[in-house]
Amino acid sequence: NKKIVIAIDGHSSCGKSTVAKQLAQQLGYIYLDSGAMYRAVTLFALRNKLASNGTVDEQALISRLAEIKIEFRVNATTKQNETYLNGENVEEEIRQLPVANHVSPVATIREVRAEMVKQQQLMGQEKGIVMDGRDIGTVVFPNAELKIFMTASPEVRAQRRYDELTAKGQQVSFEEILNNVEERDRIDSSREVSPLKQADDALILDNSHLTREEQLQWAITKAQERI
Ligand code: C5P
Repeated sequence: NKKIVIAIDGHSSCGKSTVAKQLAQQLGYIYLDSGAMYRAVTLFALRNKLASNGTVDEQALISRLAEIKIEFRVNATTKQNETYLNGENVEEEIRQLPVANHVSPVATIREVRAEMVKQQQLMGQEKGIVMDGRDIGTVVFPNAELKIFMTASPEVRAQRRYDELTAKGQQVSFEEILNNVEERDRIDSSREVSPLKQADDALILDNSHLTREEQLQWAITKAQERI
């Protein structure tokens, strides 16, 4: 069996990470969440007052990029990768709204992207990896053997994110979540550097009306055809 690279891109909150994680587990591959890296940079910016009220001090953040060390470590109990920022586990904090509300402007910064892409390419060197994000099939691994572009309607995506956050006991409104999903789509698709777009050779997976199991089976089939 040869090892391949699987790139999963698509819109915010359409379940990329769920499919990517389960697919990696099935294949015995590494799963890497590239969005977590942009989120960790954003958390650094918020904590250091380089971002607030939806805006980011780009020059200040660029000048401090060298201070940011992002790693993934496996949680011994859950066996899942967790995100570390300068040695601290920030997995929970990077999923919350302050980070979600500032991550897209941070991810438009060319220097930030260059650094993240470099690190992601290193992590994929040995293949046997499933990476999800926005530019994995277009920029990070243009030669990936399997590229999947996932999408679902904004309302379906907002509802899923809403259910997820309220299940964790967070106080959020559906409207607020829908606005965040639509705003991130808009910024991610219209930015100058590596905009979110489907790679020419990507397979589309619209999961608005598919169960998790159906999506996973579809992805496993596509992967097995290439291994
Ligand atoms: O995947 P997730 O929603 O956690 O990503 C958070 C944000 O990080 C996205 O909205 C996008 O702005 C940015 N991102 C990106 N490129 C990637 C992954 C994420 O620009 N490869």
